[in-house]
Amino acid sequence: MSSEDAEADRALKAKHKALWSSGDYPAVASEVIPATGPRLVEACNIKAGQRVLDVGAGSGNAAIPAALTGADVVASDLAPALLEVGRRHAEDQGATLEWQEADAEALPYGDAEFDVVMSCVGVMFAPHHQAAADELVRVCRAGGTIGLLSWTPEGFIGQMFATMKPYAPPPPPGAQPPPLWGDEEHVRSLLGDRVTGVEARKEMLTVDRFDSPEEMRDFFKRTYGPTIAVYKNIAEEPDKVAGLDNELAELAAGHFDGGAMSWEYLLLTATRS
Ligand SMILES: C[S@@+](CC[C@H](N)C(=O)[O-])C[C@H]1O[C@@H](n2cnc3c(N)ncnc32)[C@H](O)[C@@H]1O
Repeated sequence: MSSEDAEADRALKAKHKALWSSGDYPAVASEVIPATGPRLVEACNIKAGQRVLDVGAGSGNAAIPAALTGADVVASDLAPALLEVGRRHAEDQGATLEWQEADAEALPYGDAEFDVVMSCVGVMFAPHHQAAADELVRVCRAGGTIGLLSWTPEGFIGQMFATMKPYAPPPPPGAQPPPLWGDEEHVRSLLGDRVTGVEARKEMLTVDRFDSPEEMRDFFKRTYGPTIAVYKNIAEEPDKVAGLDNELAELAAGHFDGGAMSWEYLLLTATRS
């Protein structure tokens, strides 16, 4: 990488760090999607004594349940503010694990250090997919497990990103859209022949935190960094704010069934060759 490219990458990652530290992401993790972390831990078959890396761990949605199995867990994330919250949650739950600031595209670990490398809707937000996938593969030992839970492009969160796109600033050159990690073929091609036994299934997360589409939208406007950033981009344009408000409420309404929402994700596990 040229020194100019390296400088641009540092600036982009600083922006992402600020984005994920804005609002209150830990409230999303613990109030809206808490079932996803334990589901990933179960799919990776994590057991006591294994050395486990969680990439894009946030406040520990997957890392803490992994540590509670007795595994030796490192929770890594770009945003240290989220790791701090995770550290407190872990203490409250009696879990012991290590918390470390790290970019998924340049992990500070040796080759083959981990028995399990997992990410719960985390690595999908690193902008350069191949670089991030190469790091997941590199730090996992031969015979170890790579496990990824990612929002699909067709599911609610994938559609929320598609809805927000026209209102967002243009993505930096080379950055790829996060919900592509919810496309099985895309992930298979990122991991390539460095893994075997790929198992991928689409599942639905039931979200019963909200009584109405508007409540859901407004919660995300307050707590979720990517949504906050898009509204900031159009803050001086009231017509656009009203337009996005309506589109997000409509989208959310389409994913309500009775009192709860259903959000689709791809759960993919593979064995490192
Ligand atoms: C939607 S949150 C998921 C957090 C957690 N895994 C969970 O299940 O709640 C996405 C996380 O990815 C992290 N992230 C974004 N870009 C990253 C990168 N390049 N390297 C490491 N983590 C990153 C964010 O800081 C954030 O914590």
